[in-house]
Amino acid sequence: MITTDTPLQKQGRIIVENIIEKPETIVPRPNLQDYDETYRTFEWTSAYDRVEWNDCGRLNAAESAVDRHARSSRKHKVALYWQGADRNEKYTFLELSHLSNRFANVLTELGIEKRDRVFIFLPRIPELYVSFLGILKTGAVAGTMFSAFGPEGLYDRLHDSGARYLITNSALKGRVYEIRDNLPDLERIIVVDETDVAEDEVSYPEAMKKASETFDVAEMLPDDPAFMLYTSGTTGKPKGVVHRHLAIVQQHLTTEWVLDLHDDDIYWCTADPGWVTGVSYGILGPFSCGASVVVHDGRFDPDVWYSIIEQYRVTVWYSAPTAFRMLMRAGDVYKNHDLRSLRHICSVGEPLNAEIVHWGMRAFKLPIHDNFWQTETGGILIANYPSMPIKPGWMGKSIPGITAAIVDDDGNEVSPGVEGNLALKPDFPSLMLEIWKNPAKYQEYFMGGWYLTGDRAVQHEDGYFLFVGRADDVINTSGERVGPFEVESALIEHPAIVEAGVIGKPDPLRGEIIKAFVVLSDGYEASDDLESDVRRFVKTRLAGHAYPREFEVVETLPKTRSGKIVRRMLRAKELGLPVGDVSTLE
Ligand code: PRX
Repeated sequence: MITTDTPLQKQGRIIVENIIEKPETIVPRPNLQDYDETYRTFEWTSAYDRVEWNDCGRLNAAESAVDRHARSSRKHKVALYWQGADRNEKYTFLELSHLSNRFANVLTELGIEKRDRVFIFLPRIPELYVSFLGILKTGAVAGTMFSAFGPEGLYDRLHDSGARYLITNSALKGRVYEIRDNLPDLERIIVVDETDVAEDEVSYPEAMKKASETFDVAEMLPDDPAFMLYTSGTTGKPKGVVHRHLAIVQQHLTTEWVLDLHDDDIYWCTADPGWVTGVSYGILGPFSCGASVVVHDGRFDPDVWYSIIEQYRVTVWYSAPTAFRMLMRAGDVYKNHDLRSLRHICSVGEPLNAEIVHWGMRAFKLPIHDNFWQTETGGILIANYPSMPIKPGWMGKSIPGITAAIVDDDGNEVSPGVEGNLALKPDFPSLMLEIWKNPAKYQEYFMGGWYLTGDRAVQHEDGYFLFVGRADDVINTSGERVGPFEVESALIEHPAIVEAGVIGKPDPLRGEIIKAFVVLSDGYEASDDLESDVRRFVKTRLAGHAYPREFEVVETLPKTRSGKIVRRMLRAKELGLPVGDVSTLE
């Protein structure tokens, strides 16, 4: 039996300043008591009015997320609790609406046009949230970039997207200037913490001071692009996944159904908006539900993390398996904190092993609910609902409105219990609109009427899905997706390396770590110093998180006759598995 109402909900606490003046009528949730019935009858269009469409069938995701609450009884409710290193701030829905209006005016003054790309390269500070919403309000496309990116990672994204404006801060802008000359489309850099800026820069504080707090929000068609994120595949550079304003419908409903947000919830999503979880469920979904969102700008530290839950009395927590494993490894630290406010915990991004679910029961007296989705799908697809019985290790069932199946390599559905490709009917609102400037790549995702996730899975007769692994060479380290090709390209730029092959190696803490097999240039010998130098080199060029933790120097790499590195052989060798068919190899 599946229901959304769990007795645990009643344990949610209310922070005093968070009390709503006049509670709105509670919109009834779809009846998940009877999963099969809901599943059969649900239609996405029935939910369109939930995110404020206007009479002409237009909407703006930023307005759906924030402005409509700023016009309602929630206007003085805290939308954002921000915790920085040495200060904290809070913003109501009305303040967030006004600030994002101001930023939309700043961009308008600069000459922004609909569909222009505006990128954000910031740590998790309030300006990130304000500018993201402001960009959407103008009808431009917001791109987010994780603050650990190095010049190469930035170049790939800013160059490919043709970004016209970039918002960053004084600490990060140096990395942009390393590649600035190769970015002909980039007109202005907006700096959030400087008043005295260079000629082609804009001072955010100065411009915001002058801008009006009212703005005529651009009315968008449902299929108009709203935001984009770059993600990795097996080959080539990262691809720009573009999402439309319509995606908010799915983000809104899944935030209700899966994350189970209610008006009195204090919600903490630990993901950075440089990744899709931080956008869909760190900004759009929770704000659109009128929830109070906690943002912590800081590094992972078990004591600090538990303090955040304690201090803000977080009720709903969305994080990732590697983070839970790290907390588990920290042992009894949780016992020093009062975590009784927590009532619902969710996880995404990598397999949630049964061991963590059992640990969660011991530490928080709550099950951790797994769910599955991807950058390309923009919203949750498969989940354990709040009060579904949890099968530890399984991802849950597809949500209403999603048809998920396991298909063979020809697109035919296989029987329950048989492993195959995890596929979806491509008819849901948050499915990507396009791969930026790469229609061929976009088409590669589809076969025989299915969208292919690139993941291998099994479906049980009871409808639950079990994740098996990637169908390709994409690496998932600490829940972050890394393309082996990007790491290999960065490695061979180092003078000591002629060739490199990169794989994901199973790791008990991070899910996978990046392992590099390298062929050294003449005159170089393997040493610890060389290894640290190469590691530093990749970290600073590509990104702080996507570097090989293990190296192995080899004489040659296995290749196909056409010269492509065969990573599956490297992986088989590493794991002591059979190498499979070698008939096409050199
Ligand atoms: O391989 C699957 C894995 O993460 C991939 C998507 O990564 P990304 O686009 O970065 O989005 C991550 C956050 C939505 C998937 O193709 N993945 C995601 N969720 C799970 C998962 N693997 C196992 N279990 C999950 N719950």
